[in-house]
Amino acid sequence: MKKSKKLPEESLIFFKNEIHKIIDTEPFQKLKNYRHHGNVSTYTHTIAVAYLSFCFALRHRSSVDLSALIRSALLHDLYFYDWHDKTKGFHFHGYKHPKIAMKNAVSLYHISQREQRHIKHHMFPLTLIPPTTKEGWIICWCDKVATWKDYRRHQKKH
Ligand SMILES: [Fe+2]
Ligand SMILES: [Fe+2]
Repeated sequence: MKKSKKLPEESLIFFKNEIHKIIDTEPFQKLKNYRHHGNVSTYTHTIAVAYLSFCFALRHRSSVDLSALIRSALLHDLYFYDWHDKTKGFHFHGYKHPKIAMKNAVSLYHISQREQRHIKHHMFPLTLIPPTTKEGWIICWCDKVATWKDYRRHQKKH
């Protein structure tokens, strides 16, 4: 992970401590096996969303629960399949995966109801109900930024 010039050392330490509570776990490690956007794995994508969300919240001095923001951002795409593989019946992935990720996060990480909502609404406006929390809006926005960066990196390589 690149060290941001603008991120103070103590914030970086906080971020690293928070993400390691999740990324070192077995279910999360499995995300390395799934291609998400271009050649970017779901593992890398979700860490990028967590980092962007954290930086966004700090930069805008948002009064949010930073631990919950990082946790929800990491878990927002917690599904265990390759959505590109239509032969296995992964249709309407864009619409369905927020709920799948939320259910997986509940069963594997015991997250709060508020954190569940952050995950459930991250695909707005594709899914019709908008985020209901500040953290949810930040994740929704940073997910789109990270996705755009994933594809741009992929295009540059090819
Ligand atoms: Fe997603
Ligand atoms: Fe995502």
